Amino acid sequence: MKPTRRQLIAALAAPIATRALRGQNSSASVEIHSNVDVGTIRPELHGHFAEHLGSCTYGGLWVGKQSPIPNINGHRRQAVEWLKQVGIPVLRWPGGCFADDYHWRDGIGPHEKRPKTVNIHWGNYTEDNSFGTHEFIELCRLINAEPYLAANLGSGTPQEMRNWIEYCNYPSGSTLSDERITNGSAEPFKVKYWGVGNENWGCGGEMHPEEYCALYRQFSTYVRTFGGVRPFKIACGPNGNDTNWTRRFFDALRGKRGPEGYAMHFYSNSRSTSTSFDNTAAEEQLASFQRVERAVIQQRALLDSYDPDRRIGLLVDEWGVWDRMVPAEQKQFGALFQQITMRSAVAAALGLNVFHRQAEKLVMCNIAQIVNVLHSLILTDGPRACRTTTFWAFDMLKAHRNRMAVRVANPDPSALALSVSASKQGGELVVTLVNPKPAQALDVTCAISGSNPASATATILNHTSLNAANTFDQPDLITPKPLAVTAAAGKLTMKLPAMSIATVTVKLA
Ligand code: AHR
Repeated sequence: MKPTRRQLIAALAAPIATRALRGQNSSASVEIHSNVDVGTIRPELHGHFAEHLGSCTYGGLWVGKQSPIPNINGHRRQAVEWLKQVGIPVLRWPGGCFADDYHWRDGIGPHEKRPKTVNIHWGNYTEDNSFGTHEFIELCRLINAEPYLAANLGSGTPQEMRNWIEYCNYPSGSTLSDERITNGSAEPFKVKYWGVGNENWGCGGEMHPEEYCALYRQFSTYVRTFGGVRPFKIACGPNGNDTNWTRRFFDALRGKRGPEGYAMHFYSNSRSTSTSFDNTAAEEQLASFQRVERAVIQQRALLDSYDPDRRIGLLVDEWGVWDRMVPAEQKQFGALFQQITMRSAVAAALGLNVFHRQAEKLVMCNIAQIVNVLHSLILTDGPRACRTTTFWAFDMLKAHRNRMAVRVANPDPSALALSVSASKQGGELVVTLVNPKPAQALDVTCAISGSNPASATATILNHTSLNAANTFDQPDLITPKPLAVTAAAGKLTMKLPAMSIATVTVKLA
């Protein structure tokens, strides 16, 4: 009997499916055009975010001066050391949703006199405000991060926002700057980045774009230069690739002064809890990074139509994986705590690769969040702490910072294609390759045009289980290891297991 069309397709697909299931090799080829510049990879594309949420700030970064946990003036010493190791170009604080209910005066002056407030967004716990502006700036100085303050537009006033800037940046001689000096900092804080509201389409006031734009114009009028520091004002952008928000905000702004930055938020959600992903769930979540890239391209194109000279920079102000929460973990470790697995690291590297490839369209990208919340770099539990796989993804990709991104041509348009970014400096090319396929290893060929690869070394982050994680009991289960790579005849070749990240350093002839 003649096979039906369906049987024929099934028969042809069978070897591929079997190969994929067994994790056997398939191949992928890309071409790196080392002489086609894209744009400098600003270190801020590897930025971070800390909120008063769960145990990110309290218990995570901040343990308090009296804590038995080793600390530097109340800042967890281990976190400071690890964050210095990975390098934190910029740190956004205090929210998130928390920012639009935060009144900065609650967090200055002697600790015992600071008011106790209720965190209405993240569990109604009582906040003692022991971590405030001075503590945040001290942390930024300890880890060499540029501070980014997200100010309150949702429930604050223009005066409150303006005064915070004067308090931080005016050197001395005004009542507010002298108050800062009395509170321990003769040096002004020189804060450049100022968020003018957060998610004002949601937790920041449930506004329509026109309503937010009217408030943005009013508040930002008073966001001024103090002490010679010209503020970089960041307006609230869309939820994901919401072009309606962007159009209506910029239509309403027409003729008035725009912000320096426009911030989109883009989370990669899943219905699976972080350690119970199956291949399908992993594929679904990781495929979202193709939408992140599309959103960057489309939002920038839309901005260009209002701002052809690109005076307004595009930010991805919050991004990362947001898995289904485990109630017992929320109770034990705080709100939005999730385990960080090999799959999370692959997601982090896919995100960073997108930002590298689109480097000329972006000014800053902040992963959410730095410790114990969502896509974190560090997890803590009392005195215990570990570096997550996301930490190692950032560590492996940090070599790209400040380098010129170059064009990568990838013939595979699928959402789970091998992801590649490349950047150069002097006679060196750095290439990051991510295999996001949960069950398929890849034989990779990376042709390099415009220069000749003389030699290459590589490291890899990988585990056979996509749900494997660094935990308090096994903190170094997954760390970067050397990877065999060949550089010959104008090509790099290597094998990339399923769910792996590799960074290759190439010496050019
Ligand atoms: O990062 C957690 C929350 O996600 C932030 O507070 C908010 O801005 C976003 O919805």
